[in-house]
Amino acid sequence: MKVRVLGSCAGGGLPQWNCGAANSVRARRGDPDVPARTQPGLAVSADGVRWSILNASPDLRGQLAAFPALHPKPGTRDVPLDTIALTSAELDHVLGLLVLREALSFRILSTHWVREAILDHNAAWRLLQPIWGSIPLDASAPLDRAGALEARFFPVAPKVPGYLRHVAKPHAETTTGLRITERATGARLAFVPGLSSLDSATAAELAAADVRFVDGTFFTADELRAVKPGAPDAAAMGHAPIAGERGTLAALAGLPGKTYYVHMNCTNPILDAASPERARVRRAGVEIADDGLELEL
Ligand code: MLT
Ligand code: MN
Repeated sequence: MKVRVLGSCAGGGLPQWNCGAANSVRARRGDPDVPARTQPGLAVSADGVRWSILNASPDLRGQLAAFPALHPKPGTRDVPLDTIALTSAELDHVLGLLVLREALSFRILSTHWVREAILDHNAAWRLLQPIWGSIPLDASAPLDRAGALEARFFPVAPKVPGYLRHVAKPHAETTTGLRITERATGARLAFVPGLSSLDSATAAELAAADVRFVDGTFFTADELRAVKPGAPDAAAMGHAPIAGERGTLAALAGLPGKTYYVHMNCTNPILDAASPERARVRRAGVEIADDGLELEL
């Protein structure tokens, strides 16, 4: 399975337009230790020819432009984009769908809750209805049309996106992780960009993957408060912090295979390559996903 990190930051990217904190200021200045980053998503492929995308960020247009494997064949409108799978209805995971509205030549896959929550409450989005399928939790289904990759949504603690809070109730299908398995080789990837707490089932999913991309939104629970007084803590926003007793780093340290943090908020000190926080994460055997990173498993 081939994997490309389309974007590694959380919603807002880096620099975030309204953020004047250190990381955003340094990224704006072109500081090589704090490179600019786009909003989160991965691309996966079994053959390196047909690609599927995991989450469609608002930066998808630029991410596709920067990735020759997903350009149309010269002289045609044939783009080797097979399917877009969505782990939640969060805006930074879905806004890119409307950016692709010129052609509905791909498929969309999510849980039923995510599909209905978006289509029921957002009229313009109904143009996507004909290409949007859903599968139950913990059921394996082909990700791509050739069936070379298999998708399986597994539940994590539900967090209703802010824009749906008054119209939709939390459900086991609201927030998911994705297990992608290559049929021919058994290679397994886990993608969990939103994780408010790490229960034993999720920990087992992560441990069983060859490569895992895990929610690295905040380093500490109260990080956002430093720049946004009164902000809720990390877990209340749907993201377990990296550090601390209930943080994700302790659980991820030393897992076999490869582990990457993804969906870093612009306030996260690990975005600074020279920071002690970055060094601490790397000492535990965890890397930070970079935009454009490619790997094969
Ligand atoms: C999240 O990751 O919790 C959301 O993307 C937050 C948001 O809607 O800005
Ligand atoms: Mn987000």
